[in-house]
Amino acid sequence: MTQTPIAAIILAAGKGTRMKSDLHKVLHPIAGRPMLMHLMASVDALEPAKKVVVVGSGKEQLEAALAGSADLAVQEPQLGTGHAVQMAEGALTGFNGDVLILYGDVPFVPTATMQAMIDRLNAVDAPAVVVLAFEPEDPTGYGRVIVEDGRIVKMVEQKDATDAEKAVKLSNSGLMAVKAADLFALLARVTDDNAQKEYYLTDIVNIANADGRTCVAVTTDPFDVAGINSRAQLAEMEGAWQARRRVQAMDDGATLIAPETVWFAHDTVIGRDVLIEPNVFFGPGVSISDGATIRAFSHIEGASIATGCEVGPYARLRPGAVLEEKAKVGNFVEVKKARLGKGAKANHLSYIGDADVGAKANIGAGTITCNYDGYFKYKTVIGEGAFIGSNSALVAPVKIGRDAIVAAGSAVSRDVADGELRLVRAEQLVKPGWADRFHDAMRKKKG
Ligand code: UD1
Ligand code: CA
Repeated sequence: MTQTPIAAIILAAGKGTRMKSDLHKVLHPIAGRPMLMHLMASVDALEPAKKVVVVGSGKEQLEAALAGSADLAVQEPQLGTGHAVQMAEGALTGFNGDVLILYGDVPFVPTATMQAMIDRLNAVDAPAVVVLAFEPEDPTGYGRVIVEDGRIVKMVEQKDATDAEKAVKLSNSGLMAVKAADLFALLARVTDDNAQKEYYLTDIVNIANADGRTCVAVTTDPFDVAGINSRAQLAEMEGAWQARRRVQAMDDGATLIAPETVWFAHDTVIGRDVLIEPNVFFGPGVSISDGATIRAFSHIEGASIATGCEVGPYARLRPGAVLEEKAKVGNFVEVKKARLGKGAKANHLSYIGDADVGAKANIGAGTITCNYDGYFKYKTVIGEGAFIGSNSALVAPVKIGRDAIVAAGSAVSRDVADGELRLVRAEQLVKPGWADRFHDAMRKKKG
């Protein structure tokens, strides 16, 4: 089916005061991604011809986040949802398709729901407006959608509603689909003659009805249209998102011993037979291949973990950590911008940053790559099969050759050749019996 072009108008000019934040409300992250970008991803799946975000304050923040992926229209002052949509008219000059109206703080509308609204708009009875409605347990505060014989006879805000209308549960999510040609013509006729002295978007339904047109509701699951107005709702939505993602991970073949303690990012990729122990946090950009084990209390971000790797307990993988097949990163090891080749191991208490570690190399407990001099970062290269003794400091830039051994406690600041032993520590002083004589003398002195 060839589809009419689609434009999305995303409202985000509301003050968002309940967040008490300097960050724009729609940029607060869920699963490591701004809520607006979750919504944009669902919109993008429709391949829209145009996207316009309507913004009040915090325009620069939205500009930076969107990075040119959508147009911005400014609404100043904010005179209501109808007025907000009107602000997008200029950006849609010459656009003649279907318009989807969305809210930036309602981030989890599925693409299929948006498509269902568009399909309904293009059905044979050609409705003027399609409203996305839902039935919350408690509709207090929402606008009500009064439906009779399959068509909306009235849209009414809580503050303007009669008791009989307040008793209606079917509520307005705020989201609509309207043909561009109808939308702006209807909006031009909206007034602010209501309890809140606002230009209500919902009035386009009442005006279309008065013209003898038909307006209809598409009903959806309350979760899909849940809005976020406070930090508590943000946390609630995060929880709901995580709960779904955990089930998905298990359905896809991962074992989560305590699913409710594992936190995924929006883009975490997890293979089959991956074992994730309790209390693991994933930031963005992580992929885990089949059969890897992530032990308890690990924090992992921007990392790629190959088949059969073992990570943690208490490991930290930071952006650019690449673990090749069967590599091991143990407790209290931090890895940043570093590759560990096949079967390489850093099992205890290390910092491996800006490094390339060859296959089967063994990094002893307490080894540190000294990658920073306070001004610049430098690289450490460790050859295949090299053995780094415990508590070594590798002062970058430095190369340790293949199969080389660095003795425990060495501070290595010059390259080590293949197969070399490097030992950087003071000669040992051996004094047999000295301690016994010392104790005797001191005890006598003390009496
Ligand atoms: C609106 C609907 C109501 C619906 C509810 C769902 C109207 C008149 N009312 O209520 O029927 O049940 O959403 O949550 O449409 N915004 C702007 N500029 C403005 C005003 C709002 O951009 O001048 C944006 C907000 O950022 C937000 C959205 O529009 O994303 C909704 O605003 P909000 O004030 O939460 O909704 P209500 O008007 O109370
Ligand atoms: Ca409101």
